[in-house]
Amino acid sequence: MAAVPKVKLNTGALIPAVGLGGWSGTTKEQHAQATPWILTAIKSGYRHIDTAWGYGTEKYTAEAISLSGIPREDIWITTKLPWSHPGLKTAEESLDDSLKRLNTSYVDLYLLHWPQVVDWPDEGPEYQGPHKIRANAPSSNETWAQMEELYKKGKAKNIGVSNFSVKNLEKLLQTAKITPAVNQVELHPYLAQPQLKEYCDTKGIVLTAYTPTGYDTVRSDSTIVELAEKYKVSPAQIILGWHLARGVVVVPKSSNATRQRDNLNLPTLSPEDVQRVTALDRNQRLCNKPDENGVVSGWTLEELGW
Ligand SMILES: NC(=O)c1ccc[n+]([C@@H]2O[C@H](COP(=O)([O-])OP(=O)(O)OC[C@H]3O[C@@H](n4cnc5c(N)ncnc54)[C@H](OP(=O)(O)O)[C@@H]3O)[C@@H](O)[C@H]2O)c1
Repeated sequence: MAAVPKVKLNTGALIPAVGLGGWSGTTKEQHAQATPWILTAIKSGYRHIDTAWGYGTEKYTAEAISLSGIPREDIWITTKLPWSHPGLKTAEESLDDSLKRLNTSYVDLYLLHWPQVVDWPDEGPEYQGPHKIRANAPSSNETWAQMEELYKKGKAKNIGVSNFSVKNLEKLLQTAKITPAVNQVELHPYLAQPQLKEYCDTKGIVLTAYTPTGYDTVRSDSTIVELAEKYKVSPAQIILGWHLARGVVVVPKSSNATRQRDNLNLPTLSPEDVQRVTALDRNQRLCNKPDENGVVSGWTLEELGW
């Protein structure tokens, strides 16, 4: 097992390559149960936590950090600008609200959560109804310009995007003065995204994988299980080790202390085994899947560029 590496962003900042995913369900009760498992993760050595307004866990991330006794500046915090805020709040107002919940004066990474803007009938992250695109909302280019100001002010030490395809990155880069440091997307062996990876490598944008283990669907793949036996680790560790070999940051979520530790202790796969895992790609989304009309949260696959 190798020590958890750090990945250098285009700002020069070093992001811990393994972070703890902070999404834990859609109800207030599930959110309120997050403090103890975020705390066990920090105690196991996690120094990177991935949260969002939409996860309802910013407040519990702050609680866990405070209880851990680890100085805030030793923990990398990523949060996200929700798709429902552009046009209703400025990026600064939205980030200021997150900073209050996170009990901090800055975030290490602030991501534009989605390229599209969605109407949200209620201000809370627990809303689960249909996602309707808001008419006349600001473009991601306009919101990005506001995020660039937050970077200049130091409230966001790094800025990036999430769920952006090559198509939407190209559009963003037409006006961006600052290239996103990170693009956080669904990425696992069944969705290896080779074109997006190559494009982001060319532009100096680091990919972060969400749904990085690919759930039981990928964890039970026979090649993954065979490699787990070979390296004497779990299937999830093989998959996460594969991401690290590709220079991808991962944010697996586990509320179980043993699995949290496993996800931090990753094998170094041989180049041949990295290839074997990459060859499992079948362009299959497991988390944000299109509905029967080919729509994901209000946008068609064509609009998303997926
Ligand atoms: N930007 C976005 O739009 C977006 C979208 C989705 C997710 N995310 C981020 O990505 C994070 C992770 O995504 P995800 O939750 O979809 O996928 P994931 O981390 O790949 O999967 C989480 C599931 O896998 C289980 N698990 C974790 N480690 C395991 C292990 N070593 N062995 C067996 N099972 C294991 C967890 O159960 P236990 O808790 O019981 O271990 C949980 O049920 C989220 O928490 C969030 O921070 C971002």
